[in-house]
Amino acid sequence: MQYHICDTSEQLAAVAAAKIRDLAMAAIHASGRFAIALTGGKTPEETYRYLAAHFAEEDHWAHWAIFVGDDRHVPTDHPMSNFGMGQRLLLDHVTVGQTNLFPVPTHLPTAAQAAEEYQNTIIRFFQPHPCIFDLILLGVGDDGHTASLFPGAPALNSTSLVTWSPAGTLPPPIDRITFTFPLINAARHVMILAAGERKKQVIEDIRDRKKTVAQCPSLGVNPYPGDLLLYVDRAAAAG
Ligand code: 6PG
Repeated sequence: MQYHICDTSEQLAAVAAAKIRDLAMAAIHASGRFAIALTGGKTPEETYRYLAAHFAEEDHWAHWAIFVGDDRHVPTDHPMSNFGMGQRLLLDHVTVGQTNLFPVPTHLPTAAQAAEEYQNTIIRFFQPHPCIFDLILLGVGDDGHTASLFPGAPALNSTSLVTWSPAGTLPPPIDRITFTFPLINAARHVMILAAGERKKQVIEDIRDRKKTVAQCPSLGVNPYPGDLLLYVDRAAAAG
């Protein structure tokens, strides 16, 4: 695990954005494309803004293939859509091809159907190779959840690549679609972003590794043979 502590959340955004950009360049150099899954939540917003503000003019964006690690069962233009957030703050400002955008198919009637179809999309994208993302971005919740993998939820034990989950502890009560641990842990890099004092406990738990995954789902993020990159600000690291 690589553990980076930045003094402020602004610095965290700058450092994380630079790392994401470097990983993109390396993946494109090695394989011609960069398969990334974005995350929702407040913490990555600054990072997306930073990428758009500082790297938009670079010429690698057409090689990005962009998914989302979890989302609510809402259209992308809904204010609670994670993919929509990534679109507004980042994707609308860079020259990615429309065919390289892979939002969850939330037009399907249920979250379960959307999850199944999203899994098919991911398998088709990577075939004939295994589904290995170059980078999966994740946040963590104060209750230990990550993506839409909530404490005690059946989704924690799913052997699918993508599953659905009821809303968990977070408002509003909208069903969710989420990557599972098998897909997350197959990635080449997983970057967890956490900022603010409320994240102290979960960051401590991730480092101590004393709780169970059912208690603190973020402990289930163990990419192998990939790398876990934990990027936090000083307030979140203080524990
Ligand atoms: C979401 C994500 C969730 C998020 C964490 C952290 O849709 O919100 O699924 O896993 O990454 O709750 O969110 P913050 O960055 O807002 O604390």
